Amino acid sequence: MGTQEKAYQKCINPQCGSEFDARQSFFKCPDCGDLLDVRYNWDAIEIPNQLSDFAKRWTTRDNRLDFSGVWRFRELLDFCPDEYKVSVGEGQTLLQQACGLAQELGMNPKRLFLQYEGMNPSGSFKDNGMTAAFSHARMVGAVASACASTGNTSASMALYAHSCGIKATIFIGEGKIAFGKLSQAMDYGGHTIQIAGDFDDCMRQVQDVCTELNIYLVNSLNPFRLEGQKTIMLRIIEGLGWEVPDWIVVPGGNLGNSSSFGKAFAELKELGLIDRVPRLAVINAAGANTLTELVNDKGLRWNDSHVDQQIIDAYYGNLDATGYRPDTIASAIEISRPVNLKKVLRALDVCDGVVLDVPDEEILDAKAQIGKYGLGCEPASAATIAGLKHLLANGTVDKDARVACVLTGHLLKDPNATVNYHSKMGREFSNPPIQVENDLQKIIALMK
Ligand code: F0G
Repeated sequence: MGTQEKAYQKCINPQCGSEFDARQSFFKCPDCGDLLDVRYNWDAIEIPNQLSDFAKRWTTRDNRLDFSGVWRFRELLDFCPDEYKVSVGEGQTLLQQACGLAQELGMNPKRLFLQYEGMNPSGSFKDNGMTAAFSHARMVGAVASACASTGNTSASMALYAHSCGIKATIFIGEGKIAFGKLSQAMDYGGHTIQIAGDFDDCMRQVQDVCTELNIYLVNSLNPFRLEGQKTIMLRIIEGLGWEVPDWIVVPGGNLGNSSSFGKAFAELKELGLIDRVPRLAVINAAGANTLTELVNDKGLRWNDSHVDQQIIDAYYGNLDATGYRPDTIASAIEISRPVNLKKVLRALDVCDGVVLDVPDEEILDAKAQIGKYGLGCEPASAATIAGLKHLLANGTVDKDARVACVLTGHLLKDPNATVNYHSKMGREFSNPPIQVENDLQKIIALMK
C-alpha cells in the first residue's frame, strides 16, 4: 500500500498476504478467506513521544473525541478521518485496585486491579469496538449493519447504529441470551432475528447474509472493531501511571478482545512506547473450551504465522461428528468456534500467554466474590478471577505480580444468574434474602 496512506488492511495468512485499502469493507480476506488486520504506516502518523502525552487530552474534554476513552488515543488507531468518527462517550471506565479481593486470593493486596468495562454506555466492553466499527461503517457509506450475538454485541450495535442512522439486524440463538442484553437491543430499535440454533450457527448465517445483502458486519471478524478494543489496554496502562502490568487476564469467547490486546502490545512495543509486554491469560468456561483444548491438549500454536490448519479442521470435524454444543452459565462466552482463533494464537505468542478453562460453579463463586466488594459483573467476566485462582495456585502467577483482570460486562446484564446463585443456600458466597413476618419486634430481633 502507498506509504502516504496512514492505514490499510492486510490478510494475516502469510501464503496470501493480500493488502486492501482501509476504505474497503470486507470481514474476511476476499482472496483467501482468512482474517484481516488493520495495519499502519506509522511514519505517516504523528505518534506522541511517550504514552503519558495522551494525558494532556484530559484538559480538552469538551472536544468529543478527547472525551472518548477510545478516540483520545486516536493516533494509535488512525484509520479514518475525524469527520466520520462516532462516539457516545465510550471508554469512561475504571481501573480499580481490588485490595480486599486480592487478600482473599492470597495476593499482595496492592497488586490486583479490575478494569471495569461495565461502565460503558451499553454496559460492556463492546462499545470500545463498536465506536471504531461504526466510524468505519460511516466512512464506507454503509446503510445497514448486522451481527450474531450472545447479547452484548447486539446491545452495543443497536446503540451505535441508532446514533448514526444505520439499520441494525441482530441474530441470536434460541434461549441463549440474557434478558438484560436482549432488552437493550429491543429498546434501542434493533431488528432481532432468533435462529433455532446457538451462537455458532448464528455466526455462520450472518456472514452469508451480510455477503448476500451487502450488509456491514460488526462482529469481531471486523478488523476495524478490534482496533477500538486495543484502547482497553491503554487505559489499564494509564490507570497504572503509564506502567505496564505483569499480567492481563481476560475471558475468552469469540476471542476478539484477547486478539486485540496482543495487537496493541505488539504495536506499542514496535513504536517504543512500552519497554516490555505483559503476559496474557485467556480464560474459557469449561463448557465452551475450544481454545483451551486446542492449545493445551492439541499443541496448536501461532508458529510464526504458520498455524496448523489440520489440527483445527480435525477438532471441528469431531465437534460436528459428536453433535457437540457448548454449554455454560457464562452465556456471553458460550462459543465453540471462535472466529478469531488464529489471531489469539498470535496474541498468546506476543504475550507469552496461557489459556485455561474453569467450571461454572467456580465462575459463579468468583462472580459473588467480585460483587461483594461493590463492582458487580456478569458471569463471563468473573471467569477472570476464577482463572486467576488456578494460576496463583499452580505458581504461574506470583502473588506479588501486578495483575489486571478485565471485567467485560455489567452485573445487570444477567440478573437471573445472580439471583439464582444467591437464592441457593449452601453456596460459598450466597447471600439470600431472609424471610420475616411483617412484625416490628421480629424484624428488630432478626437484626440484633
Ligand atoms: N465477556 C462478555 C461480557 C462478552 O459479552 C463477551 C462476548 C466476552 C466476554 C468474550 O469476548 O468474544 O472478545 O472473546 N460476547 C459476544 C457477544 C460474543 O455477542 O456479545 P471475546
